[in-house]
Amino acid sequence: MATTMNPLSTLANGQPSGDPGSAQELRYGNTNGGLVALSDVQLVEVLAHFARERIPERTVHAKAAGAFGEFEVLADISDLTDADFLTGVGKKTKLLTRISTVGGEKGSSDTVRDVRGWATKFYTAEGVHDFVFNDLPVFFIRDPIKFPSMNRSHKKNPRTNTADAAMFWDYHVNNPEGIHALMHLFGQRGIPASLRNINGFSVHTYSLNRADGSYVYVKWHYRPDEGIKTMDGDTALRLAGTDPDYLTKDLFNAIEKGDFPTWSVYIQVIKPEEVENAPVDIFDDTYTWPFDKYPLRLVGRITLNKNPDNYFQDIEQACFSPSNMVPGIGPSADPVLQARMFSYPDAQRYRVGPNYFQLPPNRPHNAVYAPYVRDGPSTMNGNYGGDPDYIRSELRPVRLSNRSQTPMPGKLSGHTTAFSTSVTDKDFVQARELWEIICNEPNGKKQFLHSIIPTIKDLPSTLQKRVIDYLGRVDQGLKEALQQGVSSQ
Ligand code: HEM
Repeated sequence: MATTMNPLSTLANGQPSGDPGSAQELRYGNTNGGLVALSDVQLVEVLAHFARERIPERTVHAKAAGAFGEFEVLADISDLTDADFLTGVGKKTKLLTRISTVGGEKGSSDTVRDVRGWATKFYTAEGVHDFVFNDLPVFFIRDPIKFPSMNRSHKKNPRTNTADAAMFWDYHVNNPEGIHALMHLFGQRGIPASLRNINGFSVHTYSLNRADGSYVYVKWHYRPDEGIKTMDGDTALRLAGTDPDYLTKDLFNAIEKGDFPTWSVYIQVIKPEEVENAPVDIFDDTYTWPFDKYPLRLVGRITLNKNPDNYFQDIEQACFSPSNMVPGIGPSADPVLQARMFSYPDAQRYRVGPNYFQLPPNRPHNAVYAPYVRDGPSTMNGNYGGDPDYIRSELRPVRLSNRSQTPMPGKLSGHTTAFSTSVTDKDFVQARELWEIICNEPNGKKQFLHSIIPTIKDLPSTLQKRVIDYLGRVDQGLKEALQQGVSSQ
């Protein structure tokens, strides 16, 4: 029975409602029929709002789980950066994280073989810093313009609207730089057993810098303290049908019962003077850096400890972007990273609206004074009252920072030219090293073949041969196993 403690039912404008389950009708005798009145504000409001309650899905990474948590500094890296949230052992920073699949729609299954995206928003004293990472260490592309093409080839055929292995492989054999990422994808880590047991990788090289102008290049790594746990393809296939939100539930339930997942955060470091003679191109996101030469250095710990109270508000409307950076951290000459710095805010202005920074998950926790970013749909931050909306005003002078974000370190010079990367045998070296690791894992080779052969066996014969030749550039033994696998199916 409702008491005065229960909320009074109202319409959106606050006027009390007598019955939120009724419509105003001119009744047709004693039947259930009648004429509905257009003046029924409550009915019109409920129906009209329902038709508008979706915002556009993310074009990629639409399906996800999300949670709040904290980051704690565990080791001193003040020799490399003076980023406030990374300075001071023991310092804690609140964060929001979202872990997604890439290709599927918002309603798709959790347990598909796919990269897991992992975006984290740190609410630091110097602004919001986002790390928008993946759970595999390398990426399929290194020429930013290929991103839409690559993703479309992983999604649905434009005619049949069904997943299409021929498109997938047609893209990859003709854009072969993705071989290293493909070997990871079809390896054991292509399907996690739990989102609590995945790695996180920056994939790109970032920079760390200090006020004195010094800087280094880094790759970021998150490692789950409870270790990596993967799922075999057959279990994943079953769960995809019977329990498509399996991994989302697993994360939610663990946090709900206080079993908080944690990750240790590390960096690999390269000094600017080492770049030229580094064994790999550090601005190419298809390569990892060898651990023996560039060991992991501990930075801190991530703990997820709170589920969102409302998924739509806090996770669907969350806007993560590699462009959200704070002083002490910067990008590098990786062109894919730079393209991403444009693409995410662009997507979010469309998907959520130009004032997305004012919404709860995106709002910085420090003071913001950006009066040149104002007006627009649904502004709700006071909109800077009567403050000047133009720069260099003497009526309302602003204080300036002598420690703003460093755009990109290093000196670039030359001519602007049309450029796209080309592929050489060197691009197969790390893929081959990974294949050797896979072959040494218990069941590694068997599992790899079991997951990749079904994607190849029904391809048109010319494409099938191209795919097998392509994977054969990794290893002759792999080629023979694939030839045998497709002919015996
Ligand atoms: C040229 C390359 C890339 C482009 C243009 C691109 C673009 C995008 C776009 C437009 C979104 C949707 C954003 C939104 O609607 O809020 C997105 C999501 C995402 N991307 Fe990328 N991406 C690229 C490469 C990468 C790479 C290399 C990584 C990982 C290292 C990555 C990780 C993610 C993640 C984790 C999300 C989901 C963010 C969230 O949870 O909201 N992307 N990407």
